Amino acid sequence: MNSQKEVRILAIETSCDETAAAVVVNGRDVRSNVISSQIQLHTLYGGVVPEIASRKHIEKINQVIARALEEAGMTLDDMDAIGVTYGPGLVGALLVGVAEAKAISYARNIPLIGVHHIEGHISANYIEHRELEPPFLCLIVSGGHTHLVHVLDYRQYKILGRTLDDAAGEAFDKVARAIGLGYPGGPKIEKVSKEGNPAAIAFPRAHVAKEAYHFSFSGMKSAVLNYLNGCQMKGIPVVQADVAASFQQAVIDVLTENAKKALEETKETKFAIAGGVASNGTFRKALEEMCADHGAEFYCPSPILCTDNAAMIGAAAYYEYLAGTRSGLDLNAVPNLKLGER
Ligand code: KG4
Ligand code: ZN
Repeated sequence: MNSQKEVRILAIETSCDETAAAVVVNGRDVRSNVISSQIQLHTLYGGVVPEIASRKHIEKINQVIARALEEAGMTLDDMDAIGVTYGPGLVGALLVGVAEAKAISYARNIPLIGVHHIEGHISANYIEHRELEPPFLCLIVSGGHTHLVHVLDYRQYKILGRTLDDAAGEAFDKVARAIGLGYPGGPKIEKVSKEGNPAAIAFPRAHVAKEAYHFSFSGMKSAVLNYLNGCQMKGIPVVQADVAASFQQAVIDVLTENAKKALEETKETKFAIAGGVASNGTFRKALEEMCADHGAEFYCPSPILCTDNAAMIGAAAYYEYLAGTRSGLDLNAVPNLKLGER
């Protein structure tokens, strides 16, 4: 343990297909951020295979932690706490990180802090924007989640809206597969869209009646599949770039519209985005312009902090640490952990 006032956290993230570890000082100062991605492996199967993800995490976790400490120029003796994602995510994948964190905590007598994955994504904004303090609005858009959240204070969230079916990233992945782009869909659709016309095909913009801030993306995905079937039946050639660009635009329009409504109704002056889909350049630009139109400050993490990483878990763990949160050695993986649930 260090004697200065700084709080040094070793953070671990294994909720899906990235094995990640980071050293974060005082929540916002990232000393290392090591990510071992399994994407190439899962690409062979067209998506994440949970059993393979768990096995790969086991193989990589110790190396990734050793590198994170080495790059930070520190050892476990310098750490004040271990932060680890314990949900939501793939249970077998989460368990690897949780078991590792518990073992280190027990062996070194270092406090253990379980972190919510989505709180991590939100906290990526604290790293990128050192001046950012709650309250603010945050739109978290990833492969497993689409949440519009009012961040009232550190660790205090009001969920304004969420997806009722597919997450936006999931829809990107499914549509990419349908148009022959493969996995991971999001970055591939973004790339191909640059060559396409976003107004070529009018895919529906789904709005959930009576639930102003909720999202629904499975209908949009079905509309793309129907369009592809229609083309095949009529013998019309499919322009992949136009389908990708039109689908991407439809998703972005819905996300932006709900975000705009939330800004107008809450009168909040700060708006942040987070999650894997937030690394999409067209999406970032749309949100940035919408915020500028409303005189709101726009925040977004750089792409490396949008996709799964452990630095964001270290940032979230720091505010838990300050609040006195300490997890016991009975900490377990919770695959369906709700935001705000502790
Ligand atoms: O946050 P993340 O790394 O993992 C989860 O917590 O889910 O998000 C991964 C998701 C995937 O669905 C991926 O296709 C999507 O984010 N994604 C993108 C882009 N980069 C990643 N979607 C659209 N455009 C991108 N550039
Ligand atoms: Zn994530």
